[in-house]
Amino acid sequence: MEKRLREFVDEVTALVDAGSDEPRVLAGVRAAMGRLVARDDWLPDEVARPHPQYYQQYLLYREPAGRFSVVSFVWGPGQKTPVHDHTVWGVIGMLRGGEVCAPYRIEPSGAVVQAGPEVRLQPGDVEAVSPTIGDVHRVSNAFADRVSISIHAYGADIGKVRRHVFDTATGAVKEFVSGYSNA
Ligand code: FE2
Repeated sequence: MEKRLREFVDEVTALVDAGSDEPRVLAGVRAAMGRLVARDDWLPDEVARPHPQYYQQYLLYREPAGRFSVVSFVWGPGQKTPVHDHTVWGVIGMLRGGEVCAPYRIEPSGAVVQAGPEVRLQPGDVEAVSPTIGDVHRVSNAFADRVSISIHAYGADIGKVRRHVFDTATGAVKEFVSGYSNA
């Protein structure tokens, strides 16, 4: 494993081993993620490849007990996610290009409404999600003509987590499991 990623994994392992509460884990993972994406010189090409139709999620590391996972998220030009949740903490670090995150909330009526302004991430920027700080968003490549890549860490083996996509027009909720593009 590449040295920068190894250092990140070691830091997150220590945080999780310490049994820290979520605010502490998020603060620590955010700081470590900031260091990981401060330089774009380490991500192997095979986990940086876009797909012409679908954004790709390549597994970079799965903690042996499934307590956390690290993924490279590769956006082809103009690609975007549906509105979705995570159900566990997640920390996003922008490595290359840019992405736009729009927060959403689900009203008691089931309506799916945007919960705040869009945030544009530049290389080096870090964002976080979780059921306690806001877990529902839509993310898109900020560019219509180039690839963007962000690195995500999640408090579970995210490719196996049952989570949800939300239809903004109808409020319909659908369960999904993302899997990994390379595993
Ligand atoms: Fe997300």
